[in-house]
Amino acid sequence: MSVRRLAEDQFQPAAFAFNDENAAWADKTIQKYPAGRQQSAVIPLLMRAQEQDGWVTRAAIEKVANMLDMAYIRVLEVATFYTQFQLGPVGTRAHIQVCGTTPCMLRGSEGLMSVCKSKIHHHPFERNAEGTLSWEEVECLGACVNAPMVMIGKDTYEDLTPERLADIIDTFDAGNGASITPGPQIDRHFSSPEGGPTSLTDEEPKKKVSAKKVVTEAATATVDAAPVPPSEAARAKSTDAETNAALKTPVTAPKAAAKNAKAVEEQPGVAAPVPATAKPSLTDKNRPAGIEKPATPDDLKLISGVGPKIEGTLHELGIFTFAQVAGWKKAEREWVDGYLNFKGRIDRDDWVKQAKALAKGGEAEYIRVFGKKPR
Ligand code: FES
Repeated sequence: MSVRRLAEDQFQPAAFAFNDENAAWADKTIQKYPAGRQQSAVIPLLMRAQEQDGWVTRAAIEKVANMLDMAYIRVLEVATFYTQFQLGPVGTRAHIQVCGTTPCMLRGSEGLMSVCKSKIHHHPFERNAEGTLSWEEVECLGACVNAPMVMIGKDTYEDLTPERLADIIDTFDAGNGASITPGPQIDRHFSSPEGGPTSLTDEEPKKKVSAKKVVTEAATATVDAAPVPPSEAARAKSTDAETNAALKTPVTAPKAAAKNAKAVEEQPGVAAPVPATAKPSLTDKNRPAGIEKPATPDDLKLISGVGPKIEGTLHELGIFTFAQVAGWKKAEREWVDGYLNFKGRIDRDDWVKQAKALAKGGEAEYIRVFGKKPR
């Protein structure tokens, strides 16, 4: 964790003033709080000052303190506590905050910092030669499940590799940062498992059963299925050895248990076991036609929803090109969806539209159609 102190005097402007738009916004924001509680607006005002000038200057801290009738030191405490506030000039196109806390460190944050050192500057908080980029190490940013990650502006970029971070930095430096989709940079939906959900994949909601009913039925089932001790008469007739064996080996009441199970099944409102969805047959007429692997297959992973594992499965099915996916009819989509156990994800992610754009004009066409880079 770096020491957080105000920038040297040489960088500090003499004064700070919100521009007209931000001044009106600040007045409105302060009024959201009850009389005497205006100090609660300190963080939003500091953030707006940073958005206006790129970083939080001493003059801005004093201005915000005056607006909220706070001691300068109180606002300084807030500004120096939170790493979201930059206390000195940072890159004009991107300031990269690399999480270096344990989960991210164990998953490779040191490699990410090496990229920052080589592409931006060896020291944190120093800008590159053009003044467009800077970086720093910060503590946990709350996306540990997708470690390692960085934050740029208000967005996080997760599941990073050094190569992917290098791409992201180059894209920001070229002024195209908005074209990158924030969040996981691999085949992961938010913080779901990589490659898609592995549990709770049933779409059919189970019928609701009251908790009381469940408890009652469970108790009944337990009683009916409980071991039945040998009767006293049987005990009398048994030899000692037989008795010991009988006591050690519980005798269940299969008929009673079966009867109870049937009764439970027939209860209205009790969920019947959901049969597993059968995988469609490889010889089914709706299976999309495959082709021989071409010399340069398309990168199907550019389709949102296709990761390395799914791409491998598609290859096994003879699917290698965007044009093939773009041509899938409804029945074919349903076949593939069922084969991948996707529960409708192919249509939800609109693979066909994505594939059509990629087949027509690659990434450029994809960006034109979807307003963002593929994946
Ligand atoms: S440890 Fe890096 S986001 Fe939490």
